[in-house]
Amino acid sequence: MTNPAAEAARRRTFAIISHPDAGKTTLTETLLLAGGAIHLAGAVAARGAARRTRSDWMKIERERGISVSSSVMMFEHDGMVFNLLDTPGHEDFSEDTYRTLTAADSAIMVLDAAKGIEPQTLKLFEVCRLRDIPITTFINKMDREAQDPFALLDEIHSKLAMDTAPMYWPAASGQRFAGMLDLNTDEFVPFRRLEHGEEGLGIDERQKRGANSFMAEVRDDVRAELEEGVELAREGLPKFDLESYREGHLTPVYFGSALRRFGVLELLKGLGAHAPAPQAQKAMVKSAETDVEPGRTDVSGFVFKIQANMDPKHRDRVGFFRICSGRFQRGMTLKSAAGKGFNVHNPLMFMAQEREIADEAFPGDVIGIPSHGGLRVGDSLSQSGDVVFRGIPNFAPEILKRVRVRDPLKQKHLRKALDALGEEGVTQVFKPVQGGDLVVGAVGQLQFEVLDERMKAEYGLEVIFETSPYQAARWVSADARADLEAFVNKSGSQMAEDVDGAPVFLGKSDWEIGYVQERNPKVRFSSSKERAA
Ligand code: G4P
Repeated sequence: MTNPAAEAARRRTFAIISHPDAGKTTLTETLLLAGGAIHLAGAVAARGAARRTRSDWMKIERERGISVSSSVMMFEHDGMVFNLLDTPGHEDFSEDTYRTLTAADSAIMVLDAAKGIEPQTLKLFEVCRLRDIPITTFINKMDREAQDPFALLDEIHSKLAMDTAPMYWPAASGQRFAGMLDLNTDEFVPFRRLEHGEEGLGIDERQKRGANSFMAEVRDDVRAELEEGVELAREGLPKFDLESYREGHLTPVYFGSALRRFGVLELLKGLGAHAPAPQAQKAMVKSAETDVEPGRTDVSGFVFKIQANMDPKHRDRVGFFRICSGRFQRGMTLKSAAGKGFNVHNPLMFMAQEREIADEAFPGDVIGIPSHGGLRVGDSLSQSGDVVFRGIPNFAPEILKRVRVRDPLKQKHLRKALDALGEEGVTQVFKPVQGGDLVVGAVGQLQFEVLDERMKAEYGLEVIFETSPYQAARWVSADARADLEAFVNKSGSQMAEDVDGAPVFLGKSDWEIGYVQERNPKVRFSSSKERAA
């Protein structure tokens, strides 16, 4: 099939959000197993370990056991193509997560059945809210003693302000966990504990025998509990409603155990049935507001992430490009709105196990475009060069520091290295208009550590971060050019330029920014910059 609209319709591009330890890695592995993309249990973890040893530039990642770099995994199941975008889990990386979510059409929220909503779940959820993407809930670790399902759903409802529609209802948990009832078809899905070291998805039994016959095998006390729960759930909880889910007001809830490979096929089936396929995206096409439909012939998309030095031997950069329309074919030239062309000879497809060269790709897919610089996070590329997608903003940095290099002869190198890391979104770089040390901004402290580490490992630069007199950065704009110019001239030493040369006002405190804002009503102060291209 080569029709982009039809190919888009069978694609589901999604991300998983969760608090550390809730089971994201295990769920990812089980999903890939279901898709036949991997055959060995433990493959994802092993791959992670291998990658970590290879990329020793990223020592922090290893030391802290966090995954700073994220990747894309593609797999097929039941005629559908799934693109799983891995989001970095650390709280300091909400900006990175946000960017990844700009490329996802929906998200799975994984909760630990014993813990419910945890702090990081909440943070990531808020990031999803910014994007308005539909969320499917997977309550994991039902093979362990879990909280009462009503209490869990109630917590989701009250903390996330979303209706919860259970798709299945669990029969007990922990040692007594017996399976779950499909609330739609009334079929019982029995839980079979996989033997130690046994592989597979634990579903063969069910496929061989009528599902309902298993109900009779469930212990009396568990069955009574299940029947009562199901009755209460049917009476008191909302039913699944597609529109409400798509609008982000309701989350369908699945139960299971990623580790025991239980409930994951049901989750996948739910994603296939309800999660949105790639939709039309808002863009400016030749200066006209346009909804770019996936079926449009002109291949278009945007770069949501840049990863440098995936292979430390080559200073390579890979732009993660999410396709929004058309049928991409290897060798195509894609152009930015500024007219810069990228001939994509060797696009990477992120199949579950390794990077492969892609021959073709469709809306919803992510390809890696190798480049030696020149690509930016937020760049729109298309065959025609006419398309500029909207809504891929830069976050306001919350911490600003002055940066100097220890060896003064390396000042130029510093600038170059910072520009490169700035393009990648590792940091934001501000250059004071009247000269002086560069100011770098980050959303969290950890970003500075990453920056420091990479400056050393990749560029051989010893840098010093110093407290800066500034605490906040605001992009400034105005309807009339003269108003902006007047403000820029007046603000002299507090003006800087970002990596694209856009004017930024550096404030000494939030109070000062409020004050300056009040005195300059014609100037807009914005805490994030929505990239034009
Ligand atoms: P994360 O990526 O969200 O941080 O979580 P991860 O999958 O690494 O899972 C965290 C721990 O929870 C792991 O145990 C994992 O085996 C366990 N786990 C995940 N899903 C389930 C489940 O459905 N049931 C049970 N009982 N445990 C589950 P660990 O001991 O920390 O690591 P490991 O040594 O087992 O790899």
